[in-house]
Amino acid sequence: MEKIIIGNLKMNLLSVVEREQYLKLLKKELAGKKIKNFPIVLCPPAIHLEAFSKLKRKNVFFGAQNVFWKRSGSFTGEISPSMIKNMGAQFVILGHSERRKYFGEKDEEINQKISSALRNGLIPIVCVGETALEKEKGQTFRIISAQLKKAMQRINRTKLNQIIIAYEPVWAVGSDIIPSANEIMQVKILIKKILVEIFEKKYANGARIIYGGSVNSKTAKETCLDSGMDGVLVGRESLIPFEFLKIGQIINS
Ligand code: PGA
Repeated sequence: MEKIIIGNLKMNLLSVVEREQYLKLLKKELAGKKIKNFPIVLCPPAIHLEAFSKLKRKNVFFGAQNVFWKRSGSFTGEISPSMIKNMGAQFVILGHSERRKYFGEKDEEINQKISSALRNGLIPIVCVGETALEKEKGQTFRIISAQLKKAMQRINRTKLNQIIIAYEPVWAVGSDIIPSANEIMQVKILIKKILVEIFEKKYANGARIIYGGSVNSKTAKETCLDSGMDGVLVGRESLIPFEFLKIGQIINS
């Protein structure tokens, strides 16, 4: 199966001019090279979703970086799943470590967001991962198990093929330090095992498990191919369309 590449543009592209420059470069890269038809997902800030989604390519999709679980109403400052869907999103990143760290997001909330995203026909990209301290204390497996079990509560097993789990060690995000391929593979096995326990093998196998944290063209092979992951979630390098697509090509070579 082709490996998926997801770009998390975070809080970047500050103006219409910057956004248009980015989209111009992206289009050029998509047209210039012989990009194979692997799935590409770009998650810009929500205000840019509509403009991004005008880029129509059969293997390019869009997503948001967060969403609230309610459909509509008096929730000042929030954005609902149907809103992003109507602006062209098919995916949504949920439970990113930056949301957990700076906005205090808890597993229970993330669980509600996953349910709501699925109800609205969005594919949630659910981030789990341990901090540096937790890793040091040997708690990686315990932390990931707890995060995943809480996130997956009451999720309908027939929806597993519409869920992506991203293993993102918090210490690897934005740091240029990565786990070894073996360490990543161990976590993939753990995630698979938990999903099988909760949902049965037949359904659990439908979920894609990807890696995120300091993925670039140099680390792509080790973090995705050697570790047997189904794709990657890319932060910084997704801001450079050339580099971003190069990663996509490497993991699909
Ligand atoms: P990074 O970010 O690739 O810049 O480390 C990854 C992420 O936050 O998803």
